[in-house]
Amino acid sequence: MKITTLSLFTGSALVLSLLGGCKAGGDDPGLEYAPQMYHSVAYEPLTQIKDETQGSWLSTREDGKGEFFNSNVNNPHGMNMREPVANTVPRNKQGYLPHRLTQADLALAAAIANPVAASEQVLKDGEKLYLQYCNACHGKGGEGDGKAGQVIGGVANLKGGAYVNLPEGHIFHVITKGKGRMGAHGSQIPAESRWKIVHYVKQVIQGQAVAAADSTATDSTAVAQVNPAN
Ligand code: HEC
Repeated sequence: MKITTLSLFTGSALVLSLLGGCKAGGDDPGLEYAPQMYHSVAYEPLTQIKDETQGSWLSTREDGKGEFFNSNVNNPHGMNMREPVANTVPRNKQGYLPHRLTQADLALAAAIANPVAASEQVLKDGEKLYLQYCNACHGKGGEGDGKAGQVIGGVANLKGGAYVNLPEGHIFHVITKGKGRMGAHGSQIPAESRWKIVHYVKQVIQGQAVAAADSTATDSTAVAQVNPAN
């Protein structure tokens, strides 16, 4: 009887102390079961373990370094993510600058030229997109008489005097950020498609052929206000 109590006591003390070793806290993740599942061997942009010996007890790496070491020796300070070159702005795959203007920056936006060159195909795409996204309110001819437009009322007549001479960048900005009672469409329509709609509105609905301007020159005004380093 006594022996059973004693072994029970020592047994539970042992189990408790073993379990205690698994306790996590602060920067210590505790004992990990199958650590290879938690620690990425690939470079991670936001974590950096510089100690080459970390996780060496577990390592199967061919370079002999610890399993958890994940710094990039080819970059300054072993960083995994390269910092962008000072005073530069990354462009997207199509070569466009990001549109970082706020809704109130209409005047700045107006200076941006359409980076998409107009063509038959672009106008065709523009028509399809216009019918998808704008027709319900602005109507086929752009006169503000779409089915939903008739209900909500006050939809701009794109052929009307106040709107017919709107710069392309202005229209792009209104589609992207919305204006007044019109909602923003930036999250639904990719930038290139928005510029195609702009061509369609200008050339077909408003009947004005606009020469495709050199995008790089005017385009940058849009971000001139934004310092990427901040
Ligand atoms: C849900 C209805 C609705 C949809 C969809 C819509 N608009 Fe509008 N749009 C409006 C309303 C309402 C106004 C008037 C906004 C105001 O001044 O309050 C307006 C205004 C405008 C203006 C004039 C902006 C100015 O400077 O006053 C332009 C240009 C425009 N829309 C283009 C578009 C294009 C292009 C699309 C398709 C991508 C589109 N809209 C989709 C309702 C809509």
